[in-house]
Amino acid sequence: MAPKSVASSRTTLTELMIPSYANFGGKIHGGILLSLMDKVAFACASKHSGAYCVTVSVDGVNFRQAVEVGELVSLMASVNYVGRTSMVIGIKVIAENVRTGTIKHTNTSYFTMVATDDDHKTTEVPPLLLETPDETRRFLEAMKRKELKEAYKEDFDNEKSRMRLEDGGLELLKKERCVVDYDYGDFDDKK
Ligand SMILES: CC(C)(COP(=O)(O)OP(=O)(O)OC[C@H]1O[C@@H](n2cnc3c(N)ncnc32)[C@H](O)[C@@H]1OP(=O)(O)O)[C@@H](O)C(=O)NCCC(=O)NCCS
Repeated sequence: MAPKSVASSRTTLTELMIPSYANFGGKIHGGILLSLMDKVAFACASKHSGAYCVTVSVDGVNFRQAVEVGELVSLMASVNYVGRTSMVIGIKVIAENVRTGTIKHTNTSYFTMVATDDDHKTTEVPPLLLETPDETRRFLEAMKRKELKEAYKEDFDNEKSRMRLEDGGLELLKKERCVVDYDYGDFDDKK
């Protein structure tokens, strides 16, 4: 398979934030932004792979600043990393106040998309042609993020299988803002 450049699938989606996108506090719903991120990730991944893509995982979604009604939101997506059938799409979201021209960077998130064929089976994607130091840095960072995520999952699964309420779990809860309001002896932990 011939490698494809990052530039060939780079995609920008721009949308005006209309009043029906707002929550009760008058700010834009996080779900609206997530939906736009999913759309731009789909477009970018489909362009790179030439296949129908599905979202398998979303990382790094932190809304750092609220988006207001009337702002123009742009989502810039590019392929950061490719595996065999998966692609990590980096999405930078900015919101522009059209009257003042002020631009704020609301978040950068990473969507892992998987290419599928007509039978809904995963299918191989083209390798990525890295043409700049920034593209190379993003590829390396995505590799590290993937490695750390796998290690975290393994650690957490191990911790979870070792974690028993009578082995100190209840003791830890004493520092938290919760109240254990049942007799532990009434429940079987292995159920
Ligand atoms: C995505 C899907 C087709 C993967 O199927 P699968 O049988 O698990 O396939 P695999 O285990 O071979 O994984 C496929 C790729 O996804 C990657 N992957 C799987 N789970 C992942 C996760 N949680 N995070 C990151 N990558 C993941 C694998 O590493 C693999 O990548 P590679 O081929 O580049 O090495 C399947 O899980 C699916 O259909 N999910 C539902 C997708 C969907 O409906 N999305 C919309 C939800 S709103």
